[in-house]
Amino acid sequence: MRILNLGAGGFIGSHLTERLLKEKHSVVAVDIHSDKIRELLNHCELTFIEGDIRHPDFQLDKLVKESDLVIDLIAHANPSIYVKSPLEVFRLNFNENLKIAEACVYHKKRLIQFSSCEVYGKTVASFFSDHLTDPEDSVFARFSEDHTNFILGPVKKHRWIYSAAKQLLERVLHAYGLEGQLNYTIIRPFNFIGPKIDYLPDENDGSPRVFSHFMEALLEQKPMKLVDGGAQRRCYTAIEDAIECTYRIIENHGGVCNCEIFNIGSPENEVSIRSLAKLMRKIYHNSYDVPNHTLPEIIEVSGDEFYGKGYEDSDRRIPDITKARTILGWEPECGLEKLLEITMKYYRDIYLENSN
Ligand code: NAD
Ligand code: UGA
Repeated sequence: MRILNLGAGGFIGSHLTERLLKEKHSVVAVDIHSDKIRELLNHCELTFIEGDIRHPDFQLDKLVKESDLVIDLIAHANPSIYVKSPLEVFRLNFNENLKIAEACVYHKKRLIQFSSCEVYGKTVASFFSDHLTDPEDSVFARFSEDHTNFILGPVKKHRWIYSAAKQLLERVLHAYGLEGQLNYTIIRPFNFIGPKIDYLPDENDGSPRVFSHFMEALLEQKPMKLVDGGAQRRCYTAIEDAIECTYRIIENHGGVCNCEIFNIGSPENEVSIRSLAKLMRKIYHNSYDVPNHTLPEIIEVSGDEFYGKGYEDSDRRIPDITKARTILGWEPECGLEKLLEITMKYYRDIYLENSN
């Protein structure tokens, strides 16, 4: 197939591009950056277009027309941006993504849209715990694609603009699907991590996701900061497992993914952010016996302090992956500790290389 991979230079996009080329597809990769796919740029089946989809000269229509399948990964995907520039998030994650979807409608192309587990928002237990017999029951945090209600915070907690923009885009794709105008598949990733996730904070002006903050703290012996106490929980998913599931969605044998939504995540890898910090410290200590290296302290900071006003958090989210299991025969394999070891080694090697 000739596949248009939008956002191919990002974390997920770079791993996906590598897999698509391995599977002998022809890939047209679009991104503002190419560092993460640098080693693939000379591949004979890859055409890299360095471009900004917001630019008026960007030839979206032509690229969609010439492809057999469109994969859309482009978005602002770090919570710091949701708080600092909510309008930017809306413009890119909804307006610009909608143009991609509409080009697919016009040219009758299948679209795989990366959405987010953030559409589910918070759990009932996060604000209603006094009325629940067992607020810790995982039933309150187990989110399934076609049944779970979405719970977002108030408008003035503008972190939720990311979730709302992703949700609205999903609803528009569904509406096009209902009218028979678009064959889409929506993917809701649950905290993928692995080599190439984000960057170490010092390398860039922005603010990456938690793994990179903790990794930088370990390398530079700075404090590991727990936002609002660190009791929030996430299920970390290995990028390799995630790409395997995504590839099965791309194959779409028998059309089983047509107009469907899939969670991709590792329910067994649930961890609180406080435990994540401790686990990363333990792995660092056990794997790298560095003389004179003291492990960083773990401190608490408020969300307002860390991100700015307007931050609120998802307290807990566990993917229900029954659909991916039954329809795609997919099962995540990589456990949390191994996943952290692999990802930490990747960033430690880069850090050492840069400091030599
Ligand atoms: P990422 O930031 O690494 O990748 C996004 C890519 O889009 C970047 O390479 C960026 O340069 C590119 N991009 C941004 N604006 C662009 C523009 N105007 N023109 C061209 N390219 C542009 O993020 P990621 O983690 O790889 O996420 C990919 C997608 O998956 C996003 O839609 C994100 O919301 C979604 N998602 C990811 C996760 C995860 O666990 N990583 C979780 C939930 C949702
Ligand atoms: C992420 C992003 O919204 C998207 O990438 C994506 O949609 C989704 O979740 C996902 O990856 O599935 P979140 O998990 O909140 O959101 O992103 P992180 O920045 O990695 O934060 C995780 C948790 O760690 C949050 O509770 C945050 O407050 C906390 N945190 C973050 C810290 O305690 N310390 C830090 O230094 C950074």
